[in-house]
Amino acid sequence: MTGPEPIPVVLGVGGGIAAYKAAELARALVKDNCRVQTVMTAAAREFITPLTLAALTSNKVITDLFSDRGADEILASAVEHIQVARTHRMLIVAPATADLLAKFAHGLAGDFLSTLYLAFEGEVVLCPAMNSAMWAHPATIENLAKLAARPRHHIIPPDSGDLACGTTGPGRLPEPAAIAAKVHRILHQRHDLDGETILITAGPTREPLDPVRFISNRSSGKMGYAIAEAAAERGARVILVSGPVHIPVPEGVELVETETAARMHDAVMERVGQASIIIKAAAVADYYVAAVPNQKVKKTAMRLSLELDPTPDILAEIGRVKTDQILIGFAAETQNMVDEARRKLKTKNCDMVVANLVNQDGTGFESDDNEVALVPAEGDVVRLDRAPKRLLADQILDRVLGLRLQRHARGR
Ligand code: CTP
Repeated sequence: MTGPEPIPVVLGVGGGIAAYKAAELARALVKDNCRVQTVMTAAAREFITPLTLAALTSNKVITDLFSDRGADEILASAVEHIQVARTHRMLIVAPATADLLAKFAHGLAGDFLSTLYLAFEGEVVLCPAMNSAMWAHPATIENLAKLAARPRHHIIPPDSGDLACGTTGPGRLPEPAAIAAKVHRILHQRHDLDGETILITAGPTREPLDPVRFISNRSSGKMGYAIAEAAAERGARVILVSGPVHIPVPEGVELVETETAARMHDAVMERVGQASIIIKAAAVADYYVAAVPNQKVKKTAMRLSLELDPTPDILAEIGRVKTDQILIGFAAETQNMVDEARRKLKTKNCDMVVANLVNQDGTGFESDDNEVALVPAEGDVVRLDRAPKRLLADQILDRVLGLRLQRHARGR
């Protein structure tokens, strides 16, 4: 039995110390059923040999070495970049050096890779890697902003960590497996959320006690951000109303930053009319201090009591005003997960509640993994086994689309 046709992609390798990771990336792409055409800049060949990449991809490597070629070959190569551009679905550049980003941003076409970039009409994935100071330079920031705004362009930002130049900071090429996973998602992207506007809330809220202290919770925002990323990748316009978190904003997502439950309430209610689907993954504080002192509360030997007032229940309010929108709530529980989710489903008028136990090791708050139960208003409870939040995000969105189809089938 033969498998599906390999997907033709170009791997452009720039001249940076991270070029060695291109070999592992090429391997991961080949393993993921890509036919890889490697293009190396002259500088890249100082770091890694074309032979390595040719062997790993079972394909010749384009090196732009005119001097090694005869007249016929030079003539053929004059149109090769057009040929390569036409026959490949994606151009992945890893590492994308500051120099390459500048060339791409300004349309300079002095070598094979930059010429190919100009002629290329498919998806472009840029993986910048460089020294932290170069990454933070206004020129790089401007070039990246230009590139990010172009259609079908995806930027995979560098990781932070120890760099080859001896400094620590952002600039390191992400692990090849992470780049390959992102490439896979783009290549196999579904566009089943085209035309939808999804309003997502994520993260904790912070309720001030005085100018220096606040009440908050353990929510990291990872689940809500994963859903936002998945929804944007599937074609939705995504508005993400977020409490204070420490994770990057997914590509293409409109971020609205909030801090208190009251601010989150206002931000959500202002935008709820634009949304066809609302997903409330935020862990909103249930209480706040109405009279926050202007000055820091001083320590005394006396017992201190806090007087707390209830915050607005944003989900319940949307449940009261919603029209034909699909409303998804979350339930963070430490016991009786499904029963509690059913109760919240009814009292807050949701179409589905995603329930999770937040007192288990390795799942729930702060974890990269989760294990949830989907409790719909109509139909059976579906349990999703422990998995990375990004995977669960797609499964939750699949179920949301299922609810939409169910509704249409019933003519509502
Ligand atoms: N929620 C909200 N506004 C609040 C409190 C909660 O919109 N003031 C939403 C959350 O975003 C979540 C759902 O309600 O989608 C359930 O949140 P959870 O904290 O599990 O439940 P609570 O309603 O706060 O009930 P309890 O604290 O009793 O479990």
